Amino acid sequence: MKPVAIADYRALARARLPRFLFDYIDGGASDEVTLARNRADLAGITLRQRVLRDVSARDVGTTLFGRRLAMPVILGPVGLAGLNARRGEIPAARAAAAAGIPFCLSTVSVCAIAELRAATPIPFWFQLYMLRDRAFMADLLARAAAAGCPALVFTVDMPVPGTRYRDYRSGLSGAPGLHGTLRRAFQAACRPGWALRVGLRGRPHTLGNVAPVLGRRSGLEDFLGWLADNFDPAVTWDDLAFVRARWQGPILIKGILDPEDARQARRAGADAIIVSNHGGRQLDGVRSTASALPGIVEAIGGAIPVLADGGVRSGLDVARFLALGADAVLLGRAWAYALAGGGEAGVAHMLSLMRAELATAMALTGVTRIDGFDRSCLA
Ligand code: GLV
Repeated sequence: MKPVAIADYRALARARLPRFLFDYIDGGASDEVTLARNRADLAGITLRQRVLRDVSARDVGTTLFGRRLAMPVILGPVGLAGLNARRGEIPAARAAAAAGIPFCLSTVSVCAIAELRAATPIPFWFQLYMLRDRAFMADLLARAAAAGCPALVFTVDMPVPGTRYRDYRSGLSGAPGLHGTLRRAFQAACRPGWALRVGLRGRPHTLGNVAPVLGRRSGLEDFLGWLADNFDPAVTWDDLAFVRARWQGPILIKGILDPEDARQARRAGADAIIVSNHGGRQLDGVRSTASALPGIVEAIGGAIPVLADGGVRSGLDVARFLALGADAVLLGRAWAYALAGGGEAGVAHMLSLMRAELATAMALTGVTRIDGFDRSCLA
């Protein structure tokens, strides 16, 4: 089946990935109420159909931090993405570079910063968590700067990992030792194509960025346990100064869902904020990003860019977020599914679908430039 919609890549990913990996991407926290809400609220945004406005010349490009983006879309940080295809962060970053949009490498990636940089034509963004070991954080920041990363995404919505039933059920977490290894090996054996291409040829399956300090515990065994042990729940706004002192470029604070936190992020010196509930993977039951975005845009008042993520599965969804006031959107599952379903070509195809759908949405809403999207486009 040749995917004609981005959602088609989800079915391909399900057919190709071992269960523990598909569920890790696809799942959310607890009963997945917020996960569903992100999708439902975004799909419920009603755009105005406008006609006879000469939409022959449309520009889907935009600028962010003084740089041109071919469209207002970023491949956001996705943990373990390197397991969705062989050394998967590399094909994804290459597809993003070819499409003229940024790729953001997760702290918990398979490929380390240096490995990815050596394999990609242009530098990528880097995503950082507040880790207990500040010397190690400083080292990660230095490695990202040395690789020329132009922007830092600082994720603040994970002082502790969310409760993810699916990961427990699949054996990705809570199943350390031989028992967990055997369960995952069985699931991998049910997907022989993946087992050969990624399971065998894609080794080592360690978290590349943290491997130097963690040795044996940097592998997949009890992945979420590692997060719980190493993320710093004592972090406060004052700690942002630590990052700021060690990072020259723009810092985007990711994981803002409340206008008061948005104002605080701005006061603390954020260069942009990302409205996010971590794809419904942290506190289940919180509001959707589409419903939170307008209040946050109002609180920020145009002072810094406001980006958003959560449930984007089409160029039409991009248009919806832009109409709600976002300057750009981040993709998570959309690119992880495409990578699992089709490798580099899959991500490239997914991005071409998104671009074409965004251009169509512009024509039918009577918008010819990305900054033409605003609340007046909402019915
Ligand atoms: C990591 O960021 C995750 O959501 O698992």
